[in-house]
Amino acid sequence: MKVLIYGNGAREHALAWKLSQSKIVDELFLVDPNPLMKPLGKTIHADNFEEIVKEVKTNDISLALIGPEAPLTAGIADILELNGVPTFGPHKAQAWLESSKACAKEFNFRNGIPCARSVTVDNFSDVEKVLLEFEPPYVLKADGLAGGKGVSIVENFANASEEAKSMLEGKFGVSSKRIVIEEFLKGEELSVICLYDGKILLPMDFVRDHKKLRDSDKGPNTGGMGAYSPVMLTEKQRISVSEVLSKISQALKKEEIKYHGVLYIGMMITKEGAKVLEYNVRFGDPETQALMVRLENDFGNVLKATMEERLDGLRLKWGENSNVLVIASKGYPFSPQKGVEISGIKETASLTGVTVFGGAITEKDGRIFSNGGRVLNAVAVGKGAHERTLGFAKHLKFDAKFYRTDIGE
Ligand code: AMP
Ligand code: GLY
Repeated sequence: MKVLIYGNGAREHALAWKLSQSKIVDELFLVDPNPLMKPLGKTIHADNFEEIVKEVKTNDISLALIGPEAPLTAGIADILELNGVPTFGPHKAQAWLESSKACAKEFNFRNGIPCARSVTVDNFSDVEKVLLEFEPPYVLKADGLAGGKGVSIVENFANASEEAKSMLEGKFGVSSKRIVIEEFLKGEELSVICLYDGKILLPMDFVRDHKKLRDSDKGPNTGGMGAYSPVMLTEKQRISVSEVLSKISQALKKEEIKYHGVLYIGMMITKEGAKVLEYNVRFGDPETQALMVRLENDFGNVLKATMEERLDGLRLKWGENSNVLVIASKGYPFSPQKGVEISGIKETASLTGVTVFGGAITEKDGRIFSNGGRVLNAVAVGKGAHERTLGFAKHLKFDAKFYRTDIGE
């Protein structure tokens, strides 16, 4: 199989790393890969979908794997499949589960799927009346895609009203022309990343992501500062998660939502049981990095089974625990320092016993520089995984480094 991977962050690096070990994958084609993932395949440069289609045809690609949500929402799977390339990821018509929080909430309400009570608002004159229906802290969500940063949790009424105003006035562009105001849920988060073949929803092992910038889950929300897997749940919690999954599976069937790819369900494990926080129609970042290093199946076979609608016969096998630590550039998530050199990555990784996946970095004359917020992921497996990822972060030569010290402690 010749597989194309679209996306160039640490998630796609981890997917490429795992696929490069597959017995049924002959060659990987990577669209503008980050410098650390580049050696895993043949680089393709493409500025738009048409250029990808051209490359895909020239190189006789048998499967395209799409990492990020934005191209899926923009219809990359539609274009590739129209051109005869089976694509792992939903068509535009199914991507709304992720690209509209308001529509996703309606889907939950229609199908009795447990989630936070919420009201969708598109006019500032309604905001204060709606806020009065909730207790603080107030949860405000941009309806559309916002790179994982569109959720604000605000302690007091006046600030919540102010934040709602700023969102409706375009803080996240068209994505926040409509917002969801919802009940704050207390509990522990859980990422349930499921493979979906249009019939079967097959959960991967549980992962916990930490979205807050600072230790002890303080500070603003980010795209994710680290993750660990597996997550231990009580029997009662496990049953509750299974019940929610089964409701989602029935709802997908009833509403005829079919595609080949991933349905990621972000949950909050509350006292009353598991509740859905959000859906994503792609692999989570950084959760995928924690899962790929634990997955014992041939990942090429896993993708093939999903595409061929054979998930009912697939058993996923998982190795030892894993820990992912995101090394960010200072200033993230608002204005990360770019152009700061990062040196000795390989040496530090082998010294500390971690696998490194690259994120927002660039290469110039053989030197690596930060080029955005989440620049590297350090991933370790087995006993002492937390300490090893932390050891990597401590020893890494990168003047703008910022990371949490409590992920998977
Ligand atoms: P979302 O993109 O909807 O998953 O929200 C991003 C993050 O905001 C989640 O991972 C939670 O940490 C937090 N969050 C979202 N909704 C709620 C809620 N209703 N109650 C508490 N925290 C929430
Ligand atoms: N880790 C959160 C996400 O991928 O959306």
